[in-house]
Amino acid sequence: MHISLSVKLVLATTCTIAASKPNMSLQCHQFPDELVEFSSQFQEPEPPLIKTEFRTAFLQHKWDDQGRSNIVIRVWYSSPSQRLVVINEAFNGAFGSSTFDYSNTTSDGLVDNTLILFSPNGAMLPVYRDYVNSNFPLFEDDMLVKGGTVFSGLVERLLVGQVASWSILYQGAIPLTVFVDACGAVLGYDYWAPFLRTRVVTNFFDTTVVPVDL
Ligand SMILES: *[C@@H]1O[C@H](CO)[C@@H](O)[C@H](O)[C@H]1NC(C)=O
Ligand SMILES: *[C@@H]1O[C@H](CO)[C@@H](O)[C@H](O)[C@H]1NC(C)=O
Repeated sequence: MHISLSVKLVLATTCTIAASKPNMSLQCHQFPDELVEFSSQFQEPEPPLIKTEFRTAFLQHKWDDQGRSNIVIRVWYSSPSQRLVVINEAFNGAFGSSTFDYSNTTSDGLVDNTLILFSPNGAMLPVYRDYVNSNFPLFEDDMLVKGGTVFSGLVERLLVGQVASWSILYQGAIPLTVFVDACGAVLGYDYWAPFLRTRVVTNFFDTTVVPVDL
């Protein structure tokens, strides 16, 4: 019940603002016949360069066999030029900002994470900082072009409509599907990992492709 309520709220919000967003334009959701899976014209396309400097709202559901089922709505700032991803969230009156610094990673792929939290009365809680396993990849413009990327069809995604899906083995280990519109903007991604039977589904909405200063 909570889920459907939040989805309705999100839809209502998106509809009022979508029209004014140049990057939500129809052209960015029109694909050539060669990309239609069962068309006689079909030919596997070359992977595109993607647009990686953006800010977006997103809806994410992560679950695993440890009993976790987290559904969140947050705001994402992506800046590969600064090697940074910043995720902001408000919940129960509190505000949190989480920074992932991809210029400081370990050999096994953990990322430097700084989490700042303000309680509802405005007090700042002790800052958390450590290496963590990030759910929020740093999208690089040539990430799909680097090789081995498989076109996995045109799909309809919640909140954004038709997009192309591209599948890669992220860091050689994690099956990742990235959803990209016809203008090269990333509009979501899914991945799974067998170790904890983890699944993560992420839908972007209200995406603006623009350099962000973090
Ligand atoms: C967003 O809109 C601007 C201005 O129309 C355009 O230059 C840019 O290529 C668009 N980006 C995407 C991802 O569609
Ligand atoms: C790298 O990240 C670790 C873990 O968060 C942190 O303790 C350390 O200070 C960071 N190093 C630099 C140079 O920022």
